[in-house]
Amino acid sequence: MTKKPLKEDHQLKERFKTESEVFDREALLDLSKLMKKGVLQSVDYPVSTGKEANVFRATTPDGKYVAVKIYKNETAPFFRKMDYLEGDPRFERIKHNDRDIVRAFARKEFKNLEICERIGIHSPKPYFLINRVLVMSFLGEGELPYPTMNMVGPLHGESDLDSILADVRKMYKESLVHADLSEYNIMMGDVPYLIDFGQGVITRHPHAERFLERDVAIILKFFHRNGVDRDLKKTLDAIRC
Ligand SMILES: Nc1ncnc2c1ncn2[C@@H]1O[C@H](COP(=O)(O)OP(=O)(O)OP(=O)(O)O)[C@@H](O)[C@H]1O
Ligand SMILES: [Mg+2]
Repeated sequence: MTKKPLKEDHQLKERFKTESEVFDREALLDLSKLMKKGVLQSVDYPVSTGKEANVFRATTPDGKYVAVKIYKNETAPFFRKMDYLEGDPRFERIKHNDRDIVRAFARKEFKNLEICERIGIHSPKPYFLINRVLVMSFLGEGELPYPTMNMVGPLHGESDLDSILADVRKMYKESLVHADLSEYNIMMGDVPYLIDFGQGVITRHPHAERFLERDVAIILKFFHRNGVDRDLKKTLDAIRC
């Protein structure tokens, strides 16, 4: 027998313009808290529905657009990423159950975005975090989000690559490695914006150097396919120096 939704659940769902099926009860309650706190006025439409997270465009009470990323509780894939939390003193104490891990990733993304904001990386600005719901600035133009780089390619060739590598270097100098960088996690506005920092690690992490090398290799490979060539070793030397 299917459980009948509570009346209060139904009312909450009615307040969202988006299909209510995409929200589980826990996320719905967090969204409702964000509305009560005056962080959000409405959740407008899903920008992306993925395996690990759903991202929505939402609107604040003063009419500004924001992005809301809701990490999913179905955490099987997260277990494989446990080593992203290893060696990071910020996350040493987390208990290793599904819920805690998902929340730790959301918290990690939020904290990494805070570092990025402080040092001037082209990335979303973190606004609010509640459990596994993260509110950040909306990267887009008018109603629509910017496309990701895999969809449109580099828009300004060399200078887009320079901008990405300058951000990678700045982060590295601040002891941060993205660790999941690719054309899928870069949004193309006036400049390339880096997104999806949940897997970002600090340079004390045992695999930080390997992650950095992988990030840079993936980006150079993508630019190579788009007619911009750089030497991997020289590029890494320039980031590390
Ligand atoms: N701040 C933002 N503003 C506008 N759109 C965003 C923002 N952040 C993310 N997006 C959109 O949502 C998509 C997914 O975001 P993100 O890469 O952070 O999630 P994810 O962890 O990769 O999720 P999954 O792996 O489940 O797809 C991005 O490709 C982008 O289109
Ligand atoms: Mg992503």
